[in-house]
Formats: sequence, structure tokens, C-alpha cells
Amino acid sequence: MNPYDEVQIRPVRVEDAEAIWRITGQQGVMETILALPSDRVEQRRQALAELGPDDHWFVAEVHSTVVGLAGLRVGRGRLRHSGHVFLFVGAAHQGRGIGRRLLETLLDLADNWLLLRRVELTVFVTNERAKRLYESLGFEVEGQRKLSVIADGALADEWLMARYR
Ligand SMILES: CC(C)(COP(=O)(O)OP(=O)(O)OC[C@H]1O[C@@H](n2cnc3c(N)ncnc32)[C@H](O)[C@@H]1OP(=O)(O)O)[C@@H](O)C(=O)NCCC(=O)NCCS
Repeated sequence: MNPYDEVQIRPVRVEDAEAIWRITGQQGVMETILALPSDRVEQRRQALAELGPDDHWFVAEVHSTVVGLAGLRVGRGRLRHSGHVFLFVGAAHQGRGIGRRLLETLLDLADNWLLLRRVELTVFVTNERAKRLYESLGFEVEGQRKLSVIADGALADEWLMARYR
């Protein structure tokens, strides 16, 4: 049986810290997100323990192994109609539909349970794979954040993308 038929999406737990930390350190993941090679598992555990009521994070599991993470943070006050999302999938499990499943989970929550009008994200301009996924789920490019992030010895640009309802 194809193990990817069995992907489970569930809310994150503090105990997932080590699995998530291992994924964020992988080649093929670390350079595309805002992780550092020096990131410590304790920092990841603390960040998970400190998630608040406006943070909605899910992991993807294949046979009880965490293989991806996605999160939505809802804005406060006059930004409460909007949310910011991120996601990543372990290098060995990319291209199997897991990223799409995770993002669809966040968008279902945003659309049907939080009634958000705007969901936004940023993505490195070189990350064609992620951009294509976001466009296929209704995100559009709003602008280019120039020299916004350090990436492998240079400053890089990001797309600011958003999806509206
Ligand atoms: C970007 C990422 C989240 C996508 O998740 P994924 O599980 O690999 O992607 P999926 O298998 O769900 O594919 C979704 C879409 O991505 C695109 N895609 C997937 N694999 C691709 C590939 N090898 N080349 C080009 N596009 C690809 C396709 O548009 C695909 O659409 P489809 O389902 O109609 O085929 C994942 O590759 C990842 O975590 N990459 C490293 C971290 C990262 O870039 N995170 C995003 C930072 S903004």
C-alpha cells in the first residue's frame, strides 16, 4: 500500500518538537525557511509550549512519524480578519501531496471556522515549487520584498502573496 494514502493531519503537540527540529535542519528545507543551522531543539520546544489561542498549527504524520508542519497565526485587533501562514515538508516526503493537504487544512480553518478574509505568506522568489502550490490554492503575488532575508551568503528577495475572500 502507498504510505502516502495514510497521511494524518492533526494539531501539533509539544512532544513533536524534536521531529520538527530535525526537519527544519534538513537540506532542502532549512534554506527555504527562516531556520539557522544553530537552532536548538529546546528553542523549538519552547516555541511550541508558548503557542497561543491565535496560533493554529498542524503536523502531517505518515505511519506515526511527523513529516511536515504548517501554521496559521490570526491577527489581533484591526488585523483580526487576516492570518499569516507557513509550511514545510521533510525533504524525503516532498512532492507527494502533503504540502497541499497541510495548506488545505489551514485554509479550511481560515475560511469556515475563523471566517478570515485575508491569508498571507512570504516565499523566497527562488522557491518556484512553493509559489506554484500557493497559486494553485488561490494566492496571488502582491509584491516583492527586496533584500528582505539573508540566504546562503547573500540577501534575497521574497514574494508577498495573499488570498482573499
Ligand atoms: C513547498 C512545499 C511545502 C510543498 O509541499 P509538497 O508536499 O512538496 O508539495 P505537494 O506534493 O503537496 O505538491 C503541491 C504542488 O506543489 C508543486 N510541486 C510539487 N512538487 C513539485 C516539483 N518537484 N516541482 C515543481 N512543483 C512541484 C505542484 O504545483 C504541486 O501541485 P499538484 O498537487 O497539482 O501536483 C515542500 O516542498 C517544502 O516543504 N519545501 C521546503 C520548504 C519550503 O519551501 N517551504 C515553503 C516556504 S514558503
